[in-house]
Amino acid sequence: MSEQDSLVKVENLLVRFPVNDGKRKVYINPVDYVSFHINAGEVLALVGESGSGKSTIGKALLRIIEPASGTIEVGGQDVTHIKRGALKEYRKNVQMVFQDPFGSLNPTRTVEKHVIYPLKKHQTERIDIDQRVDELMQQVGLTPVDETRIKYPHELSGGQRQRVAIARALAANPKFLVADEPISMLDVSIRAGILKLMNQLREDYNLAYLYITHDLASARYFGHRIMVLYGGKIMETASGEELIRHPSHPYTKLLLAATPGSGIRGPLPETSNRAPNLVEGRKGCPFADRCPIVTDICREEAPPVVEVSTGHSAACHHVA
Ligand SMILES: Nc1ncnc2c1ncn2[C@@H]1O[C@H](COP(=O)(O)OP(=O)(O)O)[C@@H](O)[C@H]1O
Ligand SMILES: [Mg+2]
Repeated sequence: MSEQDSLVKVENLLVRFPVNDGKRKVYINPVDYVSFHINAGEVLALVGESGSGKSTIGKALLRIIEPASGTIEVGGQDVTHIKRGALKEYRKNVQMVFQDPFGSLNPTRTVEKHVIYPLKKHQTERIDIDQRVDELMQQVGLTPVDETRIKYPHELSGGQRQRVAIARALAANPKFLVADEPISMLDVSIRAGILKLMNQLREDYNLAYLYITHDLASARYFGHRIMVLYGGKIMETASGEELIRHPSHPYTKLLLAATPGSGIRGPLPETSNRAPNLVEGRKGCPFADRCPIVTDICREEAPPVVEVSTGHSAACHHVA
């Protein structure tokens, strides 16, 4: 499938937030001219450390926040600035699963109420709601259904709560899910089960995902392609296997070295651990301050996006 036919196309996405530095109005750009695409049925893993702009990209895609510039196209429709009715319609096709399933569920609502609500909201044709709740709960592994549907969030395990969040997202019949760190608050022992479930749903519904994580290992496990973000900019994009075997960008190498079981030995590259500067108007590469191979040009000029091999690109002055 060519990029042209992609389900999700994001071009030059810019998000600006005003921040108060006491004296004058300053903006930060946590998403700084970011472009990518996702095909139907594909998982694009978005990886980066905390504060790199991952959730902001997810929220812009959901149109929880409105981009300052750039375009977001989903299913051939430009949704960058849609409002009201069109936005409501759009949200049938695109859903989000959040990191904290407890925080995103309503403590006063039973499991079935969480699932019934979007079914009623989004379903235009008349359907047997009760039967659909049953199906969805079976599908996400919330069984035995009769017993589980009348429970409240506090009566469930973390994994079950995330399954409710997934069932609720599915109820809208989406084509595309943004999953923002969906397993990072769960016990290690149940993480793989949730990723397996998400993959099964991908196969069953040809769902596409933007899978947001700070963990390269789970990105490799679930993602077809991996996109590495730092300081609001894409550092490197490649298929999961290619990125792990042949990382090109110094930041990706650093992330790999910090990932247990990645196979990379030796000491971590020496870097300072400063948070990236996101202030609008900054120059050069956002990673320059931490980069082990930094040179003068890196602080002055934004790096070009270099095609390392087919489908593998990196934004670095020093990648051949
Ligand atoms: N509504 C907002 N207003 C101002 N700054 C924000 C807002 N939301 C996020 N930020 C800032 O944008 C940056 C990126 O945040 P975020 O997208 O949550 O990163 P990540 O998900 O990668 O940890 C952070 O510096 C964060 O403080
Ligand atoms: Mg986040």
